[in-house]
Amino acid sequence: MRGYNFSAGPAMLPLEVLDQIKEELYDWHAQGASVMEISHRGEAFQQLAAESEQDFRELLSIPDNYHVLFVQGGGRGQFSMVPLNLLRGKTTADYVNTGVWSGMAAKEASKYCHVNQVTSAENSSFTSISKQIDWKLSSEAAYVHIVDNETVNGVEFPFIPETGQVPLVSDMSSNILSKPIEISRYGLLYAGVQKNIGPAGLAVVVVRKDLVGQALPSTPCLYDYQNHVDQKSLYNTPPTFSWYVCSLVFKWLKKQGGLAKMGEINARKAAKIYDYIDQSDFYYNNVDKPYRSRMNVIFRIRDESLYPEFLTQATSAGLLFLKGHKLVGGLRASIYNAMPEAGVDALLNFMEDFRR
Ligand SMILES: Cc1ncc(COP(=O)(O)O)c(C=O)c1O
Repeated sequence: MRGYNFSAGPAMLPLEVLDQIKEELYDWHAQGASVMEISHRGEAFQQLAAESEQDFRELLSIPDNYHVLFVQGGGRGQFSMVPLNLLRGKTTADYVNTGVWSGMAAKEASKYCHVNQVTSAENSSFTSISKQIDWKLSSEAAYVHIVDNETVNGVEFPFIPETGQVPLVSDMSSNILSKPIEISRYGLLYAGVQKNIGPAGLAVVVVRKDLVGQALPSTPCLYDYQNHVDQKSLYNTPPTFSWYVCSLVFKWLKKQGGLAKMGEINARKAAKIYDYIDQSDFYYNNVDKPYRSRMNVIFRIRDESLYPEFLTQATSAGLLFLKGHKLVGGLRASIYNAMPEAGVDALLNFMEDFRR
């Protein structure tokens, strides 16, 4: 029986999308074969690629001076691609340390440049984000990197940092398409697709056109954005199935009413869980309220010995994968776009029953 899947990723997909995949699996668009079994160079797949880019652009209102790329290598691939492409002759990049993933991004970048750690929330165990006025930005930085939503720590930026002429780069792997955003405030944003879009295998990159074309000479060809721009993201064989499912999710999102609607629903879902936790003396969350993630709700039980029992009973009730990340422990409910409000209600009912 299918349950409510709270996994941080690969994560839940909309049921309607799964039904459509099932429906057209053997014979996709009268090709006489599934979408996984046809050439990415053929007309049918090229049309899918073009239409999915168009839908993605519409959803996020992406201006014409930005490229949209679908590339392999997931989120971590971008930890390398960003410095390889965006240093553009400079030797320093600013990294804001708000949790596990921003630390990893900075570590990878330090292979290619001097990483200036602008601020770190490590002392507060990553339960907050310092005000931008306290950051130590470098005047020499090629770009400023943030992780908009820290999937492991459950911390999300409630504001877009102001970086002037220095391009802002944002890892949105775990909150892309969860609300409308102002693309023109960013130089580049990226996301591994396996949380809020589709099956693992791809990352989407939105990059301002003037930032492409100056990769370090030693950049592997697959890591040079210019090659993906020139070949419309078909430079090498892409994970066609992943891309196809992403294309269906874009259509599903448009049908739900787009990102304004998703933003409303996501805010409501998260608020329901946090409100319940905050009034409880049994559960707690220690992230500062303005910085709490709308996507990955971390929660703990005061009596830590109860975690195994909580997880066993939750799984039996069809509430799946609620275990917190091994680095931080506790519990985590990932409630991306595909998680219906009914799933959140079911979780809250279970939490209250368990408490009783
Ligand atoms: C915010 C963030 N960035 C990067 C990654 C790494 O993504 P991938 O496993 O696709 O390399 C993750 C994965 O969970 C993530 O949550």
